[in-house]
Amino acid sequence: MTTLGVNIDHIANVRQARRTVEPDPVQFAFLAELGGADSITVHLREDRRHIQDRDVFLLKETIKTKLNLEMAATDEMLDIAKKLLPDYVTLVPEKREEVTTEGGLDVKNNVTYLKNFVGNLKDSNIEISAFIDPVGEQINYSKEIGFNFIELHTGKYSELTGQDQYKELQRIIESAHLANDLGIVVNAGHGLNYNNVKKIASINNMNELNIGHSIVARALAVGLEKSVREMKSLITSN
Ligand code: PXP
Repeated sequence: MTTLGVNIDHIANVRQARRTVEPDPVQFAFLAELGGADSITVHLREDRRHIQDRDVFLLKETIKTKLNLEMAATDEMLDIAKKLLPDYVTLVPEKREEVTTEGGLDVKNNVTYLKNFVGNLKDSNIEISAFIDPVGEQINYSKEIGFNFIELHTGKYSELTGQDQYKELQRIIESAHLANDLGIVVNAGHGLNYNNVKKIASINNMNELNIGHSIVARALAVGLEKSVREMKSLITSN
């Protein structure tokens, strides 16, 4: 059965907009678990624009499911991962100016560097995934480097419509089969929402979907009326 990893970066985005203490992603991880999240995903970006170091260490202590740390393959992040010991690390490409993770990690052109990096994490018993585009070559090189998992980038699938979306879905399905044949566990994510998730969730042997933005957006939609009602009640009661 496909499981759900909930990405809580956008909770931290709201907090960082004011550089204050609320909303606290640690508290929202607890709520996500109550709702059935199978793991909690956070991306500790080099520029710390949303998730902070304090968040990842508190999450590690408090969550009851699994912690998936998304990070760039840098020395700074390697040190943090080895101290934190999350259940998994997902390596993602990172550019400072991007709004969100744009393309997949280019494992094909970084084999030697990534082999060392992955070996180093495996020595600490951390399972390791690569966030890659659904392209055969990238999957073959992921195997060679030694990734236990891959996360297939569904960003393009989420943006396309009609026949183009169908073709991208086929690419994702073929990529998932290739990875399974090579013994790699397949996750997927990026841009998945309440309308487009089912076709990805029903791919054979799809292990876990990582979803953030649409879940946080939905939380606002289903929660705002209540929060306004509570504030109104405080203002109008004497
Ligand atoms: N997977 C990875 C590797 C990501 O970088 C992100 C975005 O942070 C997600 C999944 C979740 O994407 P979204 O917020 O669009 O659901």
